[in-house]
Amino acid sequence: MRGILITFEGVEGSGKSTQAELLGEYLKQSGFDVILSREPGGTQIGEQIRNILLNPEYQQMDARTELFLYLACRNQHVREKILPALKMGKVVILDRFADSSAAYQGCGRELGEKFVSRLNKLVTAGLKPHLTILINVPVDVGYERKGTAILDRMEKEEVKFHERVRNGYLRMARRATGRIKVVPGNRSPEEVQSDIRALVDSFLSGKGRRKKCKKE
Ligand SMILES: Nc1ncnc2c1ncn2[C@@H]1O[C@H](COP(=O)(O)OP(=O)(O)O)[C@@H](O)[C@H]1O
Ligand SMILES: [Mg+2]
Repeated sequence: MRGILITFEGVEGSGKSTQAELLGEYLKQSGFDVILSREPGGTQIGEQIRNILLNPEYQQMDARTELFLYLACRNQHVREKILPALKMGKVVILDRFADSSAAYQGCGRELGEKFVSRLNKLVTAGLKPHLTILINVPVDVGYERKGTAILDRMEKEEVKFHERVRNGYLRMARRATGRIKVVPGNRSPEEVQSDIRALVDSFLSGKGRRKKCKKE
């Protein structure tokens, strides 16, 4: 597998989508072949599953139904899009991936992080991100940023739920310091991006990947 998988994680409004876009631009300018994708979603089927998952009308959704929909979405994403891109040597940047399920369904819904991690392994075919950027902001900071936007089903969850998610993420980061890098997110987008670029640069040079993946 010649490609590189970089994932963005964090609570709602932490800046994942903003930072993923900016990193994508940076790596494209550096000559990498970059694919940006998101979860839930990423494929035609996945986007349909996303509509079900985030529909604020589906308040009756059971936690396990939710988990299996996320996993189904991820399974399709990995096999249809991520693995083929990595085999072609691309840099794949994901706005959420498997850690989101461990944090949201494992910790937020309290289904158990280990239980969710086992199921994650099934659908990711053992694929792990090379680097995960966890953007850390207090839950209320993320919420303020969302402003008056209509909230989706997950965003509508109570503050306690999102606190469990945030704490879950931070616990996971402490256990996987090599892969998961915590970046303080309560700063300007430019400052956050600058830290992320430094982390990515150091990862790439450490792996000697820069030359390999660079277009001529
Ligand atoms: N560092 C930042 N400071 C202030 N506002 C931000 C910052 N990063 C993103 N935003 C804004 O906050 C909102 C949520 O950011 P977004 O990137 O969509 O977060 P996420 O994808 O993690 O939910 C957007 O309106 C975005 O423009
Ligand atoms: Mg987003």
